[in-house]
Amino acid sequence: MHKPAETTHPIHDILTHRWSPRAFANTPVEPEKLLALFEAARWSASGGNSQPWAFIVVAQSDADSFEKLVDTTMGFNKVWAKNAPVLVLAVAKPGRPGTPVGKWSYYDVGQAVAHLSVQASALGLYVHQMAGFDGEKARALFSLPADTEPMTLFAIGYYGNADELPEELRTRELQPRTRKPLTEFVFGPHWDVPLQLAQTETDLI
Ligand SMILES: Cc1cc2nc3c(=O)[nH]c(=O)nc-3n(C[C@H](O)[C@H](O)[C@H](O)COP(=O)(O)O)c2cc1C
Repeated sequence: MHKPAETTHPIHDILTHRWSPRAFANTPVEPEKLLALFEAARWSASGGNSQPWAFIVVAQSDADSFEKLVDTTMGFNKVWAKNAPVLVLAVAKPGRPGTPVGKWSYYDVGQAVAHLSVQASALGLYVHQMAGFDGEKARALFSLPADTEPMTLFAIGYYGNADELPEELRTRELQPRTRKPLTEFVFGPHWDVPLQLAQTETDLI
């Protein structure tokens, strides 16, 4: 199923077609494609090139670890996340040894996952990020060092069949994707006042 973004200004196709499905096919993800996703994360920008991220990758085929990771999910994530062929725990690390994990690490991890999601879109794969999981359970499960922080869990896979989702999730799956207009968050020099740009060549004169 495709849910392309209805953009007001044209953007790249791989961004238009990225979205976060909950219906995953049980087709395994090819190892070279999976590695390409982390390569994309690797080449993300980060503060001082500190690369303060780590990813714990668990495939459905590793039934024991996979079940335990699924068990950390909360709410309706429990219903759909188990169908993804790969689950990944994104972890923030300190930017420099001996410093606490702080806002720049959080920022950098999010950006690395964004890179990964875009690469997934380019390869016909989908990523669905989740904040709805128990981070402390995940920390214990993978013996994460005390100076790290579990950030998100995300599912990777090929698109499945929305009809196989329970009714409530199927309804959500089929809902149109929406976004705030640019005017609500792109400002000129005054807070909350939308940026005004010349739109045509005539305006530029
Ligand atoms: C940090 C973060 C946490 C999220 N947590 C959840 C979650 O726990 N469960 C879920 O189903 N979707 C979750 N999402 C997916 C968002 O709901 C989704 O990205 C958003 O609705 C926009 O839809 P789109 O990605 O299809 O454009 C999360 C996304 C992000 C970036």
